[in-house]
Amino acid sequence: MANRWTNTLTHNDVTPQGAFLNRRQLIAGAAAGFGLAGVAGASQAQEALEPNSWEDITQYNNFYEFGTGKTDPAANAGALTTSPWTVEIDGMVKNPGKYDIDDIKAAMTIEERIYRFRCVEAWSMVVPWNGFELADLLEVAGVQSGAKYVAFETLYRPEEMSGQRFRSLDWPYVEGLRLDEAMNPLTLMATGLYGKDLPNQNGAPLRLVVPWKYGFKSIKSIVKITLTDKEPPTSWNKANAREYGFYSNVNPEVSHPRWSQASERVIGGGLFTKRVPTLMFNGYEEEVASMYDGMDLRKSI
Ligand code: MTE
Repeated sequence: MANRWTNTLTHNDVTPQGAFLNRRQLIAGAAAGFGLAGVAGASQAQEALEPNSWEDITQYNNFYEFGTGKTDPAANAGALTTSPWTVEIDGMVKNPGKYDIDDIKAAMTIEERIYRFRCVEAWSMVVPWNGFELADLLEVAGVQSGAKYVAFETLYRPEEMSGQRFRSLDWPYVEGLRLDEAMNPLTLMATGLYGKDLPNQNGAPLRLVVPWKYGFKSIKSIVKITLTDKEPPTSWNKANAREYGFYSNVNPEVSHPRWSQASERVIGGGLFTKRVPTLMFNGYEEEVASMYDGMDLRKSI
C-alpha cells in the first residue's frame, strides 16, 4: 500500500513479516494471559494489547536529556534539531562510516510492530512502532567475526537538550546489547509510531526498541552504533549497578531492590487505570528465552 514512505509496510501489505509478527505477538500475549488463571483472562490480555493512544505515548515519557519529569520531554524536546542527522557505525564492522538517517530509512524495510513496552518503574504501554530490524542494518554494516556486543550512544547537545545541563546522568546516554540480542528479529530500530515520524520526545529520529527488556534499554535519538568484543557500559548501570544490570530482561520474579516487578500499572484508562501481572520477558518468552539458557536470571539482572 503506497503511502508517504514508499518502502513502508502496513497491515494491508502483502509482505507478511510485520503483520505476521504482530499477530504472533497478539497470540503469544493472549496465551500468556490465559496462563495467569483468575488474574488476567483472555479478554483482559487482549484488551491489554490494544495500542495506547497517541497522547499516552507522546505525553508520558522518560527522556532525561529533556528533564526528569514525565511531561518534561513533551514540553522541551521541540528544541531538538533532528535534520540533518547522521548515525556513525564503527568498531568491528566492514563498512564503518557516518550514514545519513534519510539514506538509512530509504534502504531499510519499514514495518509496523505492535509491542508491549514495560518500564523498570513498573508502568507499561502498548506501542504501534514503525521501524526496521536492527539485524538488517547490521547486515549492511557487515559485522566482523569476533564482535560480541553492540553499543549505542545518544546525541550530546546541551544547547538543545536542556536536561544535559544537569548531571542527572553521565552524558551522553549509552546502552548496549549482546550481539545475539541485537540480531534477534524482535529487536527494532524505530523511526515512527502510528505511521508518523517519531516525535522528538519519543527519541527522534531513530531509537532502539527491545520489547522483552525494561524500557531504559530502548535508547533514544541514536547517533552512534559501535560493534565491539567487550560488554559496553550502560547509563543506568553506571548510575546504580546494584539496581540496573546490563541485561535488564523483564522478570516478574526478580524484584527491583526498591519495588516489586510482579505487576505493572497500565498507562491510560484515566480513573480506571489498572494493574496487571507482569509477564516473563514481557510476554516474549517463546521468542527470546533460549538466548539465556543456562544463565542465572537472578544474578544476571
Ligand atoms: N534514552 C535516552 N537517550 N535518554 C533517556 O532518558 N529513557 C529510557 C528510554 N530511553 C531514556 C532513553 C527509559 S527509562 C524509558 S522507560 C524509555 O526510554 C521511555 O520511552 P518512551 O518515552 O518513548 O515511552
